Amino acid sequence: MVIKMIKPNNLIPLPNFEATKTLGQKLGQNLLEGSVLLLKGDLGAGKTTLVQGIGEGLGITEPIVSPTFTLINEYHEGRLPLYHLDLYRLEPEAVAGLYLEQYWEEGEVLPGITAIEWPEKLPYLPLNYLEIQLSYSEGTGRLVILQPVGDFCFNLSHID
Ligand SMILES: Nc1ncnc2c1ncn2[C@@H]1O[C@H](COP(=O)(O)OP(=O)(O)OP(=O)(O)O)[C@@H](O)[C@H]1O
Ligand SMILES: [Mg+2]
Repeated sequence: MVIKMIKPNNLIPLPNFEATKTLGQKLGQNLLEGSVLLLKGDLGAGKTTLVQGIGEGLGITEPIVSPTFTLINEYHEGRLPLYHLDLYRLEPEAVAGLYLEQYWEEGEVLPGITAIEWPEKLPYLPLNYLEIQLSYSEGTGRLVILQPVGDFCFNLSHID
């Protein structure tokens, strides 16, 4: 498998819900163990939809539901564990006490894919991550920008 960096500011149009799911599926099939995804975008921009696709790509059959109230949902059925977090309802001070670095540092948590909605609430960031910026585009669709940070690595061949 050839591992390359994603092109900086890789912009992908997502004209409909299915396109968001399909991009997620491709990510889920190809992301490397230990990947952290920071999902930015306004309310309803499609963050959870993308994670649902990632779950499918990982081979998770259980429905992926928004962790807005549960904060963290874990899925252990797929190729890699999926940790899905939504920090929307928390203040950064509360997030600091959650010891979320356990999800991307070696140690207690089995390495997997960590997908974080509302990462603006994080008081600290991982060294390496993929920033996924979703936005509304003209009409009903969305746009996404994939921005690797640090030495985030990924098999690009299935994405564009
Ligand atoms: N590319 C797209 N084009 C049009 N609609 C989309 C697209 N992607 C997702 N949607 C729709 O947008 C709505 C909101 O999606 P979703 O819940 O994934 O957003 P979110 O960013 O997680 O929101 P929140 O900030 O509330 O967590 C859903 O109805 C979903 O079907
Ligand atoms: Mg959501």
